[in-house]
Amino acid sequence: MTVKTMHTADVKDLLEKVAGFNQEGGNERVKKIVHRLMHDIFQIVEDFDVTAEEFWQAVYYVGDLGKNGEAALLAPGLGMDKYLDIRMDAEDEQAGLAGGTPRTIEGPLYVAGAPMSEGFARMDDGSDESAETMILTGQVTDENGQPVANAVVDVWHANTMGNYSYFDQSQTDYNLRRRIKTDENGRYTARSIIPAGYGCPPEGSTQALLNLLGRHGNRPAHIHFFIAKPGYKHLTTQINLAGDEYTYDDFAFATREELVVEANRIEDPAKAEQFGLNKPFTEVEFNIQLVATDKPELQSRHERKRALEGEAA
Ligand code: BEZ
Ligand code: FE
Repeated sequence: MTVKTMHTADVKDLLEKVAGFNQEGGNERVKKIVHRLMHDIFQIVEDFDVTAEEFWQAVYYVGDLGKNGEAALLAPGLGMDKYLDIRMDAEDEQAGLAGGTPRTIEGPLYVAGAPMSEGFARMDDGSDESAETMILTGQVTDENGQPVANAVVDVWHANTMGNYSYFDQSQTDYNLRRRIKTDENGRYTARSIIPAGYGCPPEGSTQALLNLLGRHGNRPAHIHFFIAKPGYKHLTTQINLAGDEYTYDDFAFATREELVVEANRIEDPAKAEQFGLNKPFTEVEFNIQLVATDKPELQSRHERKRALEGEAA
């Protein structure tokens, strides 16, 4: 039986009391948002005739999501991170700060305080001898194409199993995570290994919901970047390697055409030798253009909970 109660005085009164409208204390913005949120949830219950069984299933789903530590994994899967990027792009446009290398989502797997080096870093610990060696290199410039020296390029990526150090405790500390300061020509170079794409834990809460939506939980092989330099807009971005099954089908919606990068196999022993290698390797080039700003609040990454943030050196 379908009943309609949202229009009644009882429900309106209930929602106002739920949101603390009749109380002096608290935070006005939170009250308004909770009022809207609970109104919209009530409305969904009415419109879809949600049963008590379905409702309690959803409540315990949220509990399990928290217990599994997967809330920040479900969010990108439901397009939230992408939506926030769309809003930030629109804000930049409005403020005349559009342009440069596009942003894309950070994801939940950053760890603060990776070792810092100048110009070059080796990112892998050498333990995966069967991995393909990657030379990742590029130049950071401003909008006029002038090199930006001393920019901090903070790079992180997964191993050949799609797993990230720190979250995967079988890896050494800060494996595949480094901060590299650009040299006087704005250049950075990293020696690392070609990563594999990430997949959501198959038995986890995120994958359980994705299954109900008929969706997979996979990301293409990708490499994350934060790029920071005083006087420029902080950039959070990542590149997706071309040719991966999921390059244009990322469950976290991070792919942008400008951020799809070819990985080139280099067989020339002379070129390998330049990097101290005695076997073929794969080169990935990612040049980054920063946008100048004098607004200090745009020059550093926005706050969110991140592993070891505020703790690491
Ligand atoms: C990642 O960066 O690998 C990632 C991003 C969003 C959700 C899960 C993983
Ligand atoms: Fe990632």
